[in-house]
Amino acid sequence: MNPVLAFHRSLPGYAPTPVVALPGLARSLGIAHLYAKDESNRLGLPAFKALGASWAVHRALAGRPPSTVVTATDGNHGRAVARFARLSGHRAAIYVPPGVPAAAIRAIEDEGAAVTRVPGDYDAAVRAAAHAAAAPDAVLVQDTAWPGYEEVPGWIVDGYGTLFAELDEQLPSPPDLVIVPAGVGSLLQAALTHYRGRPAPARTAVVSVEPRAAACVLASVAAGHPVTVATGETALAGLNCGTVSSLAWPHIAAGLSAGTAVDDPEAFAAARLLRANGVDAGPCGAAPLAALLRPDFPLPLSPATSALLLVTEGAAAV
Ligand SMILES: Cc1ncc(COP(=O)(O)O)c(C=O)c1O
Repeated sequence: MNPVLAFHRSLPGYAPTPVVALPGLARSLGIAHLYAKDESNRLGLPAFKALGASWAVHRALAGRPPSTVVTATDGNHGRAVARFARLSGHRAAIYVPPGVPAAAIRAIEDEGAAVTRVPGDYDAAVRAAAHAAAAPDAVLVQDTAWPGYEEVPGWIVDGYGTLFAELDEQLPSPPDLVIVPAGVGSLLQAALTHYRGRPAPARTAVVSVEPRAAACVLASVAAGHPVTVATGETALAGLNCGTVSSLAWPHIAAGLSAGTAVDDPEAFAAARLLRANGVDAGPCGAAPLAALLRPDFPLPLSPATSALLLVTEGAAAV
């Protein structure tokens, strides 16, 4: 069996997250099937990030004496790193930019982690974490890559692969379309790695969705190379990133079908719709539905289309 899936299956509390069919919403969109992969309870945490953090902490720290696991976060990743550091007997030092909700910071501290607030933006918090991780007993477990720092982020992407391995067993056939919320693009990389490994006729279209205030994937695709965007304020805190991961970029450049952006009110409206249909979604998790509901959704939909929303966080994440 795939070693990452075997590892996740060995963790206490592991269960595949549910796939929920949304026939009413599919009808109103004029498509055949709409599914939501509901990540509101992933290994006891309210976002998919636990998959990457658990595997990367395991790979990076197994056999090490008690160390300090360091990362920057806009919420979910830091909480997951803090959780798995604690469970494996390590300390955690988490760097957060402004804009991370107070409840998300408290949840990180409740895992026993030391939280440092960094002025500036998410990229500044990543730099602060990388600097702190130069200490002798520290290990950086960051969910974005840059030249010279790619091994650990690669493990994080491998960890996200479990979500797609589960989907293969849960859906009758691969969807025609999957919509992925993108911050630095590591989850997008995992989706592209998974669905681009298939023969061309069975190809799943992969579409990214970002907050309009932090659309670094869209800007990079438009430029034809990675560009850093100045990020603004958005309630989609987990997606408020200005730079695409260097590991994700080649996958995005070669394989992304289309990208789009949404505004916060659209994400909130989509979260309410999902809740009304029995799916617990925070604003990042609702962004894929918000994208699909936009009149300018970048790909054609047809009465035969089966679409999958990655609902990457529950409301408790924010
Ligand atoms: C809830 C949620 N969805 C999606 C993402 C996007 O993941 P990535 O940064 O790998 O693009 C994040 C990242 O923090 C997140 O917290």
